[in-house]
Amino acid sequence: GAPVEVDISKLEPGQMMTVEWRGKPVWIINRTKDMLDTLPKLADAVADPKSEKNQQPAYAKNDTRSIKPEIMVVVGICTHLGCSPSQKFKKGAEEGMPGEWLGGFLCPCHGSTFDFAGRVYKSKPAPTNLEVPPHFYMADTRILIG
Ligand code: FES
Repeated sequence: GAPVEVDISKLEPGQMMTVEWRGKPVWIINRTKDMLDTLPKLADAVADPKSEKNQQPAYAKNDTRSIKPEIMVVVGICTHLGCSPSQKFKKGAEEGMPGEWLGGFLCPCHGSTFDFAGRVYKSKPAPTNLEVPPHFYMADTRILIG
């Protein structure tokens, strides 16, 4: 499939947009500092905190799984059986969610949960973190995916 060019100039902090790439949804999330601050706290809660499994290009193998810390680019397809997780950005106790939910994504099919870097929580059916697609910045607010 062809690469997809995305203008993120209107993507406000805390917002997410979805674009289609090779027939898959790709999420672009403008993470707030608050969202980013949840990531180090989850090092023991997620299965692959340092992204050791090959689920991202080398330039996104870092603490935020991204090129720019605030901008997350990730394929919105559960690595278990391919459902699309739902956004669960609200913190706090929520029915069916882990006790100290800090925000992220929940797969409705079999309950896998993911943090704001797409890292899967431990003991969930999804075997790996969500995939970060190949992408680069053509300009400060323009991303080419693919
Ligand atoms: Fe997501 Fe099974 S497809 S948990």
